[in-house]
Amino acid sequence: MQAIAPRARQRAFCIAALPAGDDLSELAELLRTAGVAVVGEMVQQREQPHPNSYLGPGKVVEAKAAAKACDANLIACDDELTARQERNLEEALGLPVVDRTTVILDIFASHAGSAEGKLQVELAQLEYNMARMRGLWSHLERLGGGIGTRGPGETQIETDRRLARNRIATLRRRLEHVKGTRAVQRAERERAALPTVALVGYTNAGKSTLLNALTGSEVGVRDRLFHTLDPTTRTLRLGGRPYLLTDTVGFISKLPHQLVDAFAATLEETRRAELLVHVLDASAPQAQREVMKQAVEQTLDEIGAGERPRLLVLNKVDLLDEQAREELHFAHPDAVLVSAARGEGLDDLGGRIERELAHLLRALDLLVPYADGTSLAELHELAGEVTREDTAEGVRVHALVPARLAERFARFALEGS
Ligand code: GTP
Repeated sequence: MQAIAPRARQRAFCIAALPAGDDLSELAELLRTAGVAVVGEMVQQREQPHPNSYLGPGKVVEAKAAAKACDANLIACDDELTARQERNLEEALGLPVVDRTTVILDIFASHAGSAEGKLQVELAQLEYNMARMRGLWSHLERLGGGIGTRGPGETQIETDRRLARNRIATLRRRLEHVKGTRAVQRAERERAALPTVALVGYTNAGKSTLLNALTGSEVGVRDRLFHTLDPTTRTLRLGGRPYLLTDTVGFISKLPHQLVDAFAATLEETRRAELLVHVLDASAPQAQREVMKQAVEQTLDEIGAGERPRLLVLNKVDLLDEQAREELHFAHPDAVLVSAARGEGLDDLGGRIERELAHLLRALDLLVPYADGTSLAELHELAGEVTREDTAEGVRVHALVPARLAERFARFALEGS
């Protein structure tokens, strides 16, 4: 007997008003991540969406028939809709309509890990809904004015708005508190003053997996987009020397502005990093790879990190045959090919990171008194390998340490070093 796949609970028909050349593949991927099946799509090529109904009126009629024919129970729109467009579309199509922002907020809500991430996403969701309630409310207001128009609908909306406003105020207060904690953590890291590397990349490229593979740490990995909402920083040891390695949130194109706040922590980490390791899914088809690469580069520009030194890492090469690997190598001669999942190419990558950051190290020649065991231990911790020679006056040490930390050992400096 043939097995029948279970029917997805939500089956979306995707619509888009796009300039020629764009397509709906990213929306489909976002929906898949949100657990929604895509059963059909309709694209209308137009420069601007229709102000009232997003698609042109004729196209809306066509979309209704097409959505019915493929048994959709949800309409997903590739853009952010105004309250008016959403309402009109729902009426005309007879199905619930979600827009791109709602889908993304939903994904972020289910993937938020830390307390701060959860608060930020709830705040973004509420603010988004508030703005639409306002739209709806003013629409009702225009209908009436004067006696007899204060219907239950309006009262309910007023109540909802008050509740939402209270909740927003509470969330903001809590966020302030959590942000304080983060500032303390960052200050601690800054005191450590270690060279910092940030992993950036399109969502699902394998950043968390690579962070785990390089540092042996446990950051959960799921085959879903946006797993990492909060930057996670770990210590990475290369040549015995510690570096900080930060995982960042997955980038996507056209990020809803409500989420820019939720991204603040990630953007901050990215801007501060001395090296950005751009992780790209090498197993994706070339055209898609280009789109993902562009989206990341554009986002980096937008957040003011476009000028940061960058190293391209092509991940998931275990999924490629020898010929495909050679082609990749030819197309991106400066990139490092790795498989984070299989642990391939990681030594190469470590070596490249070390070389890219070598300019941040300073060679020190020191004479440390025997009594100062703490400084010796600290030197070992920061420099990994050190050459040492025991003399009558103390230990003569030659070590490479981060230049920012050299000051700590200045009092031991040998003449002329
Ligand atoms: P976001 O947090 O959404 O930005 O994702 P991410 O870039 O952190 O990706 P993550 O590490 O969560 O990996 C996404 C998926 O790719 C998971 O299913 C991983 O198991 C898979 N993956 C990661 N690295 C490799 C690899 O080298 N080879 C293969 N075959 N799969 C990999």
